[in-house]
Amino acid sequence: MRYFFAIFAVICFATVAILGWRGKASKSTPVYVFDDMDYQSKLKPMGQNTFFEDGRNDRPPVPGAVARGNAWQSAEVFSAEYRDAASRNPEFVTGKNADGEFIDGFPKHSLTFTTDAKGGRVLAPFVLDERVLAKGKERFEIFCAVCHGYAGNGEGILKVRNQIPGDDEGDRFIGTIANLQLASYREKRNGDYFNTITHGKSTMQAYGDKLTPEERWAVIAYLRALQLSQNCPPDLVPDSIDKANLK
Ligand code: HEC
Repeated sequence: MRYFFAIFAVICFATVAILGWRGKASKSTPVYVFDDMDYQSKLKPMGQNTFFEDGRNDRPPVPGAVARGNAWQSAEVFSAEYRDAASRNPEFVTGKNADGEFIDGFPKHSLTFTTDAKGGRVLAPFVLDERVLAKGKERFEIFCAVCHGYAGNGEGILKVRNQIPGDDEGDRFIGTIANLQLASYREKRNGDYFNTITHGKSTMQAYGDKLTPEERWAVIAYLRALQLSQNCPPDLVPDSIDKANLK
């Protein structure tokens, strides 16, 4: 019996110790039975290190290493007049001009730096070429066509499918999908489109996290091409086409 109480007490203690306070927040220092990976021998950034001659943890890049991604030149970034491309070119990342109005047309400059005649670092012009349109087509067909349709007329698969009587599977039809071929949408400024893509609009979700600013402008360029294809002014129609049959 003596042992029974002793063992019983140990079991009760162990049960409470193991399960009792699990998940409870405590301010006291934890008792480590297994320290998992909370303590590891590692070198932290900016730390001191007697092993290396320069006394630093951080190692300089190997000479000739090629920077990837945001290849910032530290000398430049820390210089007094440094401003990154996005803050030099707010138009490109907001779609708005200095007065906060949506821009018409496309931004004059891109986010890529180039060297001018005097060797200064300037933003390269934003060029709307075939490559941009191809990128825009690709992104539009991935991200926008499900709703707005491949022609931008609002007849995407989400709408078509939900008009099949009795087909209640999946998401319900978003009744407000915009037909971007309508004059009311064609009249809107590119900056307005950019804003809609970045932040979404009422029932349309935002795409700012999925498309880079370059891709957003490319999508807009392609969308404008789609609109032109459906509303082509007669003087732009090639002579080889019989204009008498145009509607
Ligand atoms: C899930 C469906 C869906 C997808 C995908 C989608 N949209 Fe929309 N879009 C909508 C709906 C719905 C509206 C109408 C919003 C409203 O009620 O004003 C709309 C409206 C718009 C408008 C007009 C906004 C205005 O000024 O009134 C533009 C421009 C637009 N979309 C562009 C795009 C582009 C570009 C993409 C791809 C990056 C895209 N949409 C992807 C559903 C979608």
